[in-house]
Amino acid sequence: PADPLVVFTPSGKRGRVAAGTPVLEAARQLGVDLDSVCGGRGICARCQVTPVFGHFAKHGITCDETTLSDRNATEARYTEKRGLAPGRRLGCQARILGNVVIDVPAESQLHRQVIRKAADARPATMDPALRLCLLEVAPPDMHAPSGDLERLMEALRAQWGIADASVDPGVFAQLQKTLRAGDWTVTAALHRASAEAPPLLTALWPGLLEGDLYGLAIDLGSTTIAAHLVSLRGGEVVASSGVMNPQIRFGEDLMSRISYAMMTPGGAAEMTGAVRAALNGLVAELAASADVCTDRILDMTIVGNPVMHHLLLGLDPVELGQAPFALATASARDLPARDLGLGALPSGAQVYLLPLIAGHVGADAAAVALAEAPELSDDLVLIVDVGTNAELLLGNRGRVLACSSPTGPAFEGAQISSGQRAAPGAIEAIRIDPATKEPRFRVIGCPLWSDEPGFAAATARTGVTGLCGSGIIEAVAEMRLAGLLDAGGLIGSAQQTGTARMRAEGRTHAYLIHDGSASGGPIVSVTQADIRAIQLAKAALYAGARLLMDEMGVDAVDRVVLAGAFGAHVSPQHALVLGMIPDVPVIRVSSAGNAAGTGARIALCSLAARRRIEREVRRITKVETALEPRFQEHFVAASAIPHATAAFARLRR
Ligand code: FES
Repeated sequence: PADPLVVFTPSGKRGRVAAGTPVLEAARQLGVDLDSVCGGRGICARCQVTPVFGHFAKHGITCDETTLSDRNATEARYTEKRGLAPGRRLGCQARILGNVVIDVPAESQLHRQVIRKAADARPATMDPALRLCLLEVAPPDMHAPSGDLERLMEALRAQWGIADASVDPGVFAQLQKTLRAGDWTVTAALHRASAEAPPLLTALWPGLLEGDLYGLAIDLGSTTIAAHLVSLRGGEVVASSGVMNPQIRFGEDLMSRISYAMMTPGGAAEMTGAVRAALNGLVAELAASADVCTDRILDMTIVGNPVMHHLLLGLDPVELGQAPFALATASARDLPARDLGLGALPSGAQVYLLPLIAGHVGADAAAVALAEAPELSDDLVLIVDVGTNAELLLGNRGRVLACSSPTGPAFEGAQISSGQRAAPGAIEAIRIDPATKEPRFRVIGCPLWSDEPGFAAATARTGVTGLCGSGIIEAVAEMRLAGLLDAGGLIGSAQQTGTARMRAEGRTHAYLIHDGSASGGPIVSVTQADIRAIQLAKAALYAGARLLMDEMGVDAVDRVVLAGAFGAHVSPQHALVLGMIPDVPVIRVSSAGNAAGTGARIALCSLAARRRIEREVRRITKVETALEPRFQEHFVAASAIPHATAAFARLRR
């Protein structure tokens, strides 16, 4: 009789295998992705499958209880001790006796698809750099002397077909102890920098390691450092945190940090030390909050702008401060975490730094490109990542352009008189009645608007403390819509605007949003200097977008994606009123959240994604704003609010 036909779902892969073949082996033969840590010993349960019984006309087969072998002693022991969900079998123990349809559940797929939460969810595939292998190492034998390491390597070759592995020195130092503690059975973590690269044994545990390995995706911003702890099995984020970048004390923006490095002997090293210490702190914090032991955190991806990237690596950032803005290296880099002073991670942990696009456009922009994939877009998309520096990508299937624009930190609430970081108590949204000129607002941490009953009680603990980035943007846009501000950005007097909320401050005016002084809180207002800071920032952003559009030879874009933690909070309507972005219908403006962080996460979960972004970055055309005279022209034209009166009239309606 013909060999049994096996159909795997959901992959649809099918083929004939010899009767008696274990399901795990059949999966390997047919190229089906089925996980295994113990190598088929019936103890890890990563290989679980569900046979599907019934008649399948499509495949011309009938599958019933007789087409798979009964539970053998190993599977029965596992089921008794640990339990298996109804209908589930251990793929390494169940043997194929007749035609079968076998479903591989998501958690048993090594390369499972993880779906992004965004509205335009694209599936991303798990393909991490790390995998676990259980090894049974031969105990030492006086009559056949060989070293522990040699016998471990032999086990790796014989049991997993891996002959070219090397061992991290930290693992080597613990090898004797670990082998004996596990009674010659150990779980090894193998890291591959690429599918072709020889693996590195980065960690070793006695016995079978249960549970997942983890990685950290880091978005190293000039103002904040955001970190996600991610399971390398399912791709899910198990903890997230963010801290201020401690380099701020050496300079608010990138240029001031470069000049600190230039003017202060040892200044660059000081900044390198500060950011590395912050990363170590984040490792410890995230591990504790997710209750994950740090010895499981073995991989890390980092994205950041070129100055952050160079300082982290201990490279001098001075060349990045002057034309031709030469990078020390633009390539992606794989290196041990210990080379970055990340002592909070285990000795074998590895780091992947995404490639940089240009001297001003860093790995953060590359990560945004990885997350948003403009090269796959049919329509022309402008992606704006707003941080202390804005990075812009414009492109579609044909071509992708990139530039950065020196917006400064005003959009993050810095250099604004009542500005503050996004934290409970900060005003994040504001509306001004055009008739009465009275404001109402919402603060972070409270769902109520300030004119709703219960607002005072709900904010009693946090108070109203200032304006965060989205708050100041909405405030300026609303002031313009309410006629408190002219197109040149000049705030009117109390007389001109007809509101007692307008206070004279020397020869200029300030609009009072909230007076908390009676209860000991701050006065939150928008001053003329605040308006000027926002005008400069938004003109820089808009001019960058125009420059890319010139280069692309277009006068309009099809859609705009606002990225960055800030992009997640700013309302598209207000961004348009302010003239931060080119005119598009408001429904064509969307938010991608922290796309750089998402890109770092995708790269953490997938070697294929790392190769993809390395390829894409080479194809992106870089446009240098600092050297382009048209940037200045666009910048000057863009400082009015918004940039074009016609658009303003339309938005006002
Ligand atoms: Fe480990 Fe089947 S492969 S239990």
